Amino acid sequence: MTKNKDWFVSWFDTNYYHTLYKHRDYKEAEVFMLNLVSFLKINKDTLLLDLACGKGRHSIYLNTLGYNVIGADLSKNSIKKAKKHENERLSFVEHDMRKPFKTKFDVILNLFTSFGFFEDDAEDIAILQNIKNGLKPNGVAVIDFMNCKNVILNLVAEEIIKIDTITFNIKRYVENGFIVKEINFNADGNTHTYFEKVKNLDLQKINSYLNSVGFKIKHTFGNYQLEDFNEETSDRLILVLE
Ligand SMILES: C[S@@+](CC[C@H](N)C(=O)[O-])C[C@H]1O[C@@H](n2cnc3c(N)ncnc32)[C@H](O)[C@@H]1O
Repeated sequence: MTKNKDWFVSWFDTNYYHTLYKHRDYKEAEVFMLNLVSFLKINKDTLLLDLACGKGRHSIYLNTLGYNVIGADLSKNSIKKAKKHENERLSFVEHDMRKPFKTKFDVILNLFTSFGFFEDDAEDIAILQNIKNGLKPNGVAVIDFMNCKNVILNLVAEEIIKIDTITFNIKRYVENGFIVKEINFNADGNTHTYFEKVKNLDLQKINSYLNSVGFKIKHTFGNYQLEDFNEETSDRLILVLE
């Protein structure tokens, strides 16, 4: 696989992606959601969108708390897995977040670094515009991005991770304004190389995107406990938008 600009279409849809991240932290996702719904005082009768939901770990938990949730993701395979959990107050749809939504929501969540994948800034801005247009009056959006400065400071350049029968050789580096994770492995008789590329966006740059669509930052947090953001030390950059 070449380092194509639409890497996110193929990689997130492979079984290898799900193998590499099979130990993704469900407990951490639950703690974050509990803190968030309590801070935002989200009523049970509201409609939530989990945008770029993956297999739906946040959506499924929010639904167990009594919320009405729609999860949306570009990956057919992730949505197929998530659909097994559907009920009358939880559904999943395939959707490209660069396209507008047909429904309006009280809350739109974009969680765990599901932003900044695109070469062209206009595509990142289109997503913010779609989120803004997709909110009901007084609706609120949350973007949970990484704190790129801290990530770059602590970047592990090379790592070997063995999961099930696959040995993933991982390289991390910064290139052309992106934090790149290069994933090399042998599986099913072939040698594979995939890339994850997330734009090196700081608060100032994201704020410039937000200004261009008339979105305002209401709160800025630095971790899933919702402590204040600190550019030097925080793990996350979590923005509450109105
Ligand atoms: C880092 S994963 C996070 C998944 C999920 N939010 C979680 O925390 O488990 C990023 C997700 O963004 C999705 N994604 C990438 N590009 C997308 C797009 N253009 N529209 C919708 N989803 C997209 C991927 O398929 C993937 O599931």
